[in-house]
Amino acid sequence: MKKIRFLFALVVLAVLLSNCTSKSDEYIDPRGTDYAGSESCIQCHQTQYESAFHSSHFKASAPATKENILGHFSNGKNTFIYDQNTKLVMEERNDSLYQVVYKNGKEVKAYPFEILFGTKHAQTSAYWKNHFTYELPVSYYKSINSWATSPGYSATIPNFEREIDKECFACHSSNIASRYVTTSSDSITFMTMEVEEFMNKKTLLYGIDCERCHGPAKKHVQTHLKFPDLKMAQDIVAFKNLNRQQKIDACALCHSGNAKMKLKSRFKFRPGEKLTDYFMERSGTPDTVNYDVHGNQMGLLSQSKCFIKSPTMDCMSCHNPHQNASQNLGSYSKICMSCHQQTKHKAATVKSLSKTMLANNCVECHMPKQDSKAIYFQQSNKAPITSYSLRTHKIGIYRAVKK
Ligand code: HEC
Ligand code: HEC
Ligand code: HEC
Ligand code: HEC
Ligand code: HEC
Ligand code: HEC
Ligand code: HEC
Repeated sequence: MKKIRFLFALVVLAVLLSNCTSKSDEYIDPRGTDYAGSESCIQCHQTQYESAFHSSHFKASAPATKENILGHFSNGKNTFIYDQNTKLVMEERNDSLYQVVYKNGKEVKAYPFEILFGTKHAQTSAYWKNHFTYELPVSYYKSINSWATSPGYSATIPNFEREIDKECFACHSSNIASRYVTTSSDSITFMTMEVEEFMNKKTLLYGIDCERCHGPAKKHVQTHLKFPDLKMAQDIVAFKNLNRQQKIDACALCHSGNAKMKLKSRFKFRPGEKLTDYFMERSGTPDTVNYDVHGNQMGLLSQSKCFIKSPTMDCMSCHNPHQNASQNLGSYSKICMSCHQQTKHKAATVKSLSKTMLANNCVECHMPKQDSKAIYFQQSNKAPITSYSLRTHKIGIYRAVKK
């Protein structure tokens, strides 16, 4: 019996070995041979992998599978009304998901959900047509647990023609390659020549992965596999050795709004580099009044006295880069108090809340939720406009606190 088992084990081993050598199914990263891919990090960095893998960063874009999609496809919850004759229905057909437009009960068009953007508060979708991606007109919002117009879309006419450009991918994914292609040219006059940026579907790497933040790490992986006793990190940028501005830039790359880019793509940024090499200088004085709570945590934080007056504060003072923002607002109060033990509120402020409430709710009063001016939506043509609200990163004194 023992012998048979041993033989069986040998056979299994042989099969495994031959598989390894013959198939050579080594991971090839679309970014190039200096990238190793996130899967390769697990063996040595399980803690970071396990938290990052479940984070919104990893899901900032994803394939539109039934598991990943947040909105409803069941009767009663899957319809958007444009007018009495026109409706849009989310439908599942042969394992694929679609937005289908009906006019007077008759189907007029159907577009598939192919790429998802967003996971924490909202999710919008796109489909591929030739070498371009287009946004679907209806998105899912968690605050209402329902479908509503995609940001900036009409609630009276379904529009499937708005392109999702490479910039969306540059903040929501780890890679997409593109090239400029001359689409229609008059070889004599060049008058009608058009240059378009074709995106290559096969090179899309969904989500923000380890190497999007840490830079290419193939060499790091190879070195540590070869010398497993090495305790000092080799061939990788160490955040702990970066200065404050460099740390901030690694987050501000995607968290400082729609900064105008120089010719360099966001995808090319590596930790340690300067964002001023990527972003155009804002001309004149920055329009700080219009910094939006959506997407511009850096712009808002940089207006806070806390940030201006403390030489060490950066995003990591309050966030673990491998985890989502904490749901527990009390945990942030502890961070506030690490610098503000001495704060004495005025009698009127103290009177408004119990002592413990005051101690646990710094964020509620000093980083209140505010409506985005860039994003709002409608649940149907007749529904009122709903705002999208996020916590401001401009830490300050606010009179009115919105719950
Ligand atoms: C064979 C083991 C091994 C693999 C695989 C590996 N690393 Fe590491 N890594 C190490 C060791 C050892 C250190 C140094 C000790 C530490 O910080 O954990 C390290 C440190 C790091 C650091 C911290 C650097 C510093 O000094 O602050 C980063 C970032 C990092 N690795 C990223 C990655 C990424 C991304 C991957 C996957 C692409 C990866 N590692 C794969 C072994 C490995
Ligand atoms: C490549 C672009 C990119 C970079 C770089 C980046 N982020 Fe993000 N971050 C995003 C996007 C996109 C989301 C929204 C994810 C979603 O909900 O779909 C996000 C979400 C977050 C969230 C909210 C997650 C949650 O669910 O609570 C925090 C906090 C955050 N980022 C902090 C950071 C910090 C800190 C850094 C720097 C270490 C950083 N980000 C770097 C793009 C980026
Ligand atoms: C959103 C950007 C981002 C992503 C995604 C990300 N990291 Fe990090 N990572 C950082 C930053 C920033 C630090 C430095 C933290 C600090 O200084 O407090 C860091 C630190 C580390 C360290 C040093 C030890 C530690 O935990 O501080 C390791 C190891 C590491 N990351 C590995 C990984 C691996 C593996 C992945 C993918 C599973 C990953 N990181 C994904 C931004 C990121
Ligand atoms: C400059 C970087 C950047 C660009 C460009 C960008 N986003 Fe985002 N997006 C973010 C960040 C950061 C967040 C999360 C934090 C926030 O809302 O402030 C986010 C949030 C979202 C969300 C909601 C996710 C959530 O639940 O928080 C959706 C949906 C989304 N973006 C879609 C898009 C689409 C579609 C495009 C292109 C038209 C786009 N984004 C362009 C950075 C960017
Ligand atoms: C790294 C230290 C640090 C942290 C952490 C910190 N602050 Fe501050 N904060 C400061 C400094 C320094 C000032 C400026 C004090 C001054 O001007 O005398 C300040 C100022 C303030 C002010 C006055 C703002 C104004 O416009 O007058 C408020 C309110 C405040 N902080 C609340 C908070 C809250 C709430 C948190 C947590 C979310 C927090 N702080 C986290 C250092 C910090
Ligand atoms: C003083 C603490 C503090 C600092 C510094 C800080 N944040 Fe936050 N951040 C918070 C708090 C508090 C929340 C709200 C958590 C919640 O409501 O669940 C938050 C939420 C977020 C979110 C999620 C937005 C949402 O509403 O879901 C993003 C994205 C984010 N922070 C990015 C950043 C970035 C990027 C930086 C650096 C530029 C940064 N934060 C610096 C305290 C901080
Ligand atoms: C109920 C809302 C509320 C809560 C909760 C709250 N604050 Fe305040 N805070 C205020 C108001 C209003 C002011 C301005 C009037 C005053 O000083 O009482 C203020 C003022 C401040 C100032 C500026 C004081 C100065 O001398 O300029 C700081 C710093 C501050 N708060 C920090 C904190 C911290 C840290 C926490 C959590 C431990 C916190 N606050 C909790 C409402 C609040």
